[in-house]
Amino acid sequence: MLNIIISGAPGCGKGTQSELIIEKFQLEHFSTGELLRKEIAEQTALGIEADKFISKGNLVPDEMIIDVLTKAIKRLDIDCKGVILDGYPRTVKQAEDLERLMNELLKPTTVLIELQVPDRELINRLLTRGKTSGRSDDNLETIKQRLEVFEAKTAPVNDFYRKLNKYVAVDGVGTIDEIFERIVKAVNSIFVSAI
Ligand code: AP5
Ligand code: MG
Repeated sequence: MLNIIISGAPGCGKGTQSELIIEKFQLEHFSTGELLRKEIAEQTALGIEADKFISKGNLVPDEMIIDVLTKAIKRLDIDCKGVILDGYPRTVKQAEDLERLMNELLKPTTVLIELQVPDRELINRLLTRGKTSGRSDDNLETIKQRLEVFEAKTAPVNDFYRKLNKYVAVDGVGTIDEIFERIVKAVNSIFVSAI
């Protein structure tokens, strides 16, 4: 199985590249951000609670996320070739939960790919998207908070995967196709080194 975690700061291109990776490697998509935005759009109890954190640029508490994750992973088609985890795990606690769950299900994670993009470019991308996205977190104040939260809470997840020998950094600046090519090379080199 090919279970790829796509990580990186807000606006680095996780969602954009996930779509291309899914098509090429025929994976299922699992994005906690998208699942939460669906809950918000439907105004469920979880969505209303989650939006209080999201609109301020903070992470939704781990306890709320683990239920969303477990349900989604267990629902995966038995025959699926793997999954792309977009925006999860975002804390070391989430990484520990994920590794435990995937190992129990005999679906170990393959690699964490971090898309690296400078803050200035991230802010430009998100402000541009904010003109039309309708997302409660695409405004300058919330973007700055999201970037701080990323450094404090999510960057340590890289070290967690480095220690497992599953961390790869990819330059996330360039055209969407150029970045996708770099990701494909990284994924293929993992296959080669695993042989
Ligand atoms: P989430 O939905 O994961 O958002 P995010 O990490 O802030 O990142 P984005 O989705 O905004 O950006 P992206 O990296 O997907 O980039 P995209 O491809 O869209 O999370 C939102 C919130 O939900 C969190 O802040 C948190 O509150 C909560 N949450 C989610 N998961 C959680 C978890 N596990 N635990 C706790 N809380 C959680 O691209 C961005 C823009 O740039 C687009 O407009 C795109 O068209 C453009 N673009 C893409 N690539 C390029 C390129 N190469 N050049 C120029 N522009 C580009
Ligand atoms: Mg996204």
